[in-house]
Amino acid sequence: MTKKWWHDKVAYQIYPKSFYDSNGDGIGDIPGIIQKLDYLQDLGVDILWLSPCYCSPLADQGYDISDYYNIDPRFGTMEDMDRLIAEAKKRNMYILMDLVVNHCSDEHEWFQKACEDPDGKYGRFFYLKEKNAEKPPTNWRSYFGGSVWEDLPGTNRQYLHVFHKKQPDLNWENPELREEIFRNINWWLEKGLAGFRIDAIINIKKALPFRDYAPDREDGLCSVGTMLKEARGIGEFLGEMRDRTFRKYDAFSVGEVFNEKPEELPDFIGEHGYFSSMFDFNEAIFGQSEKGWYDSRPITPDDYKHCCFIAQAKTGSIGFLSNIIENHDEPRGVSRYIPEEDCCTESKTMLAALNFMLRGIPFLYQGQELGMENMSFSSIEEIDDISSQDEYQVALQAGLTPKEALRVVSKYSRDNARTPMQWSDKPHAGFTTGTPWLKVNPNYVSINAASQQRDPDSVWNFYKKLIALRKNPLYKETIVYGTLEPVWEERHNLMAYYRKGDRTLLIIGNYQREEQSVVLPKNANQTESGHSYNILLNNYPDIHIEDDSIHLYGYQVLILEL
Ligand code: GLC
Ligand code: CA
Repeated sequence: MTKKWWHDKVAYQIYPKSFYDSNGDGIGDIPGIIQKLDYLQDLGVDILWLSPCYCSPLADQGYDISDYYNIDPRFGTMEDMDRLIAEAKKRNMYILMDLVVNHCSDEHEWFQKACEDPDGKYGRFFYLKEKNAEKPPTNWRSYFGGSVWEDLPGTNRQYLHVFHKKQPDLNWENPELREEIFRNINWWLEKGLAGFRIDAIINIKKALPFRDYAPDREDGLCSVGTMLKEARGIGEFLGEMRDRTFRKYDAFSVGEVFNEKPEELPDFIGEHGYFSSMFDFNEAIFGQSEKGWYDSRPITPDDYKHCCFIAQAKTGSIGFLSNIIENHDEPRGVSRYIPEEDCCTESKTMLAALNFMLRGIPFLYQGQELGMENMSFSSIEEIDDISSQDEYQVALQAGLTPKEALRVVSKYSRDNARTPMQWSDKPHAGFTTGTPWLKVNPNYVSINAASQQRDPDSVWNFYKKLIALRKNPLYKETIVYGTLEPVWEERHNLMAYYRKGDRTLLIIGNYQREEQSVVLPKNANQTESGHSYNILLNNYPDIHIEDDSIHLYGYQVLILEL
């Protein structure tokens, strides 16, 4: 395999609106990110992915772009962006922006022009259909609820939107549109971006001709995903995009890809794949129900382990997955993957190590390095996110009481991840001197960066050690390129695996509060201590050994070199 500059990097996702507010308007901004670059460098991360900060009405928090060539004034200026790229470079860090090109905003000039002249050039940038008074062109339900069809203002047409109605889908079948997108990507890469995270990309290819599918809920609609599963030929678009843009710049691209088929993996992330990498969402989508969040099945430690191992086995050495515990679309990982009553520093650091040491590129999401937890929302009015609003209604319609519906939505809401970053125990967690756009999690008094940086046993310092271990020249080759082999796979609440390269590492996590023991495989390389291993990382101050067994404490995680 040809080595690439990004194989050994550690990435960190910034949600600009909630990261750090430099001017007291309650909204995080690019100058705020610049001020925190030293913090990020200290942690050890290399690649920063910024969720969108282009001009946008923020209907979907920036994932609805009205100008691909400008920064929204709420986030700063283009000069700020240039400065961020330059300041990152000084620190050997790389900036990725979010590429949101399945759709734009209904406030984008293209869409405005399409309304003026639906038969003209810009009408062909979208999917428009003649309006029929009786029924919409198809019966597809959008991801954020309701029909995917909406009236095109001032015309007798309707337009397609697989997400919110303020996010009209762009018509990738039109070469003129594709040209515009490639021009934009190259323009940013010329500026010195290292690459992109590619949003919702699996939606760009629709199954043509459009038709109805069997309804899957009482609303008589079917999930738009049903149509997308039937679409063929996305590879032509993706291959063209790679060749016309990323490849020329040796850019790093990471795709938001769901539901890929195993046989497609080499095309997506193989050596000459469409993308450098794609996220592993296997754990995040576990237990999802067609019916909605209210019907989701919670994930257990054994499920978590199996999800990780399935993704790892499927990928093997074909390419590199990007491993996440959470992102801006998910609840906080520690609240999802650890039972609530057990959420503590040990369990958080165990989860961190188990995920971080998988083969692939680790992506941290802001606040994950602090073990930030879900918010406790006391009413639906406290939730801003549009998908949570929809899921609340879905739950009510299914017969849940408002209280139950709120409980469901609180568990899965994207706003759990979007509450402001907890910098210190100062008012509003030190995020802003003004009024934060979204409520700060009141637990900032105990969970915040300033106190964790001072505490050698904090989640933050554990992440710092994990990152340093991955970069340690002795272990880097093995951690980056080594194979992954599960161990004791059938044992309950135990997740363990080897990473084998020029060295052999064993990662063992006791995924429960009770102790449990393991007997290490025999190994000839006896070390001075008399044991056949070195402890590279341990989330407890000691290790309890008796004869051949290690008695693991509750949520203990060990990284051993055999
Ligand atoms: C992706 C983004 C999400 C957004 C959606 C529509 O899934 O991560 O935040 O709402 O695409 O752009
Ligand atoms: Ca601001």
